[in-house]
Amino acid sequence: MRIEIVGARSIPDSREKPTIETTLRSGELEAKASVPSGKSTGAHEAKELRDEDGSVSTALSNVTGEIAEAISTREFASTKELDAFLIELDGTPDKSRLGANAILSVSISATRLFALQAGVPLWRYLADTYGTTPSAPRLFVNVMNGGAHAGFRLPIQEHIFMVGEATLTESFATAERGFAELGEMLKSETDDLQMGDEGGYSPAFADFDKPFELLTKLVEKHQNTAIAIDSAANELRNDHGGYTLIGKDYTSEELRKLYVDLVGKFPFHAVEDPFAETDSKSFTELTADIGKQVLVIGDDITVTNPKRIENAIEEKSMNAVLIKPNQIGSVSEAAEAVKKTHSAGWATVCSHRSGETDDTFIADFAYGMGAHGIKAGGLGQKVRREKYERLCSIEKEVTI
Ligand code: PGA
Ligand code: ZN
Repeated sequence: MRIEIVGARSIPDSREKPTIETTLRSGELEAKASVPSGKSTGAHEAKELRDEDGSVSTALSNVTGEIAEAISTREFASTKELDAFLIELDGTPDKSRLGANAILSVSISATRLFALQAGVPLWRYLADTYGTTPSAPRLFVNVMNGGAHAGFRLPIQEHIFMVGEATLTESFATAERGFAELGEMLKSETDDLQMGDEGGYSPAFADFDKPFELLTKLVEKHQNTAIAIDSAANELRNDHGGYTLIGKDYTSEELRKLYVDLVGKFPFHAVEDPFAETDSKSFTELTADIGKQVLVIGDDITVTNPKRIENAIEEKSMNAVLIKPNQIGSVSEAAEAVKKTHSAGWATVCSHRSGETDDTFIADFAYGMGAHGIKAGGLGQKVRREKYERLCSIEKEVTI
C-alpha cells in the first residue's frame, strides 16, 4: 500500500497540553490518529518531542516533512513493515530525533488504513498481523485519583475498581454503577471532593486505609470485581533512598511490608509500580511474597520496552506488565512487548495515558492482543469513557 500524509495538526489533550493528530490517505481510504501524553513517566520511555514552549511544532513538521517525504515513494505491506522503516529512519534508540509522538501518530493511523484496506475491524487486523488471540479484557477503572494526577491529595496515584463480568457491556454497566455509588459514599465522607486528571474522584484523606475501605464496600456489592492500585512509586521517592507517603518515610522493606498487609486485608487483584524503576530488587521480593495471590505489574520499570521486559522476566521482578504504545513509540514494538510478556506466562494490561485524546486505539489494541486488562481511567471524563464504549462496540462486531 502507498501511504500519503495528508496533514498533522496540534490538538489539546485532556490537560489542555498540545499533542499531535495525523491524517493519512491511501487512494480513497483516509484515517487519522492522535497520541496521548504521560505525567508520571519512566526515565527509559521513548522520547516525546516537545519544543521549549511546550508545543509539538517540531514533531508536526517532522511528520509533514521528513516522514511524509520518506514514505511517499514506497509501498508498505503491513504496519510491521512501516514501523521497521520509521524506526530506521529515526535512527536513535529512543526515537528522540523524529519524536516518539510523531512516529506513533503515523504508526497508529497507518494501522487503521491497513485495517480499512483489509476490510476488517482494527482489533482483528492487529490480531492477524501480530498472531495474537483476541479476547475481552477486564476493566481497570481508576475511580480515585491521587499522586501526581491529583496534587498528591492521596499518596497512591490510582485506586482502581477492577471489573471482569462475562461481557464487556456488563463490565461497563457494573463500572458505571460502582462509580456512581462511590461518588455518593465520598460525598457523605468529605466536603472537599475534587476530580483528578484521569476522570476519577479526588478526595483528600489523611487515613491511608480509607480509600481501600470504601473500595471494599463496592467490591462486596458487586460480583466479579476487585481492587487494584498503581502506586507510581517513582513519584514517592525521597532523597534518602526510601519512599514518603502522607509525610511518613518508609524504607523499601517497610513499604514491601505495607503492601503485603494491604493485600492481606482487602480484596486485591493487582499492584502496579509498587516501587521505583531503580528498585527492581524490591519488585522481585514483593513478587515472591504476593505474586501467587495478585498481579504485580511493572510500568515505569519496563516502559513497554521488549528488552527491559526480557530483563524483568530474567529477574522475576513481576508477573504482569503494563503496555502503553507511546512509551515505546510504535504499534509493532508495543505488540512485541505484549507477546514477550505473554510468552513468559505473564499477564498484560494495556493502558491509556493521563493526558488523553478521543482516540480509542488502545481499546482495539487491548482486545486484539488478548490482554488480561485495560486501564482507561475514571468515568468522569469523556475521553476515558470513549475507550470503554469502543470496547462495548467491539463486542457487537464479534457477534455479527
Ligand atoms: P501517566 O500515568 O500517563 O501520567 O504516566 C499513568 C500510569 O502511571 O500508569
Ligand atoms: Zn503506572
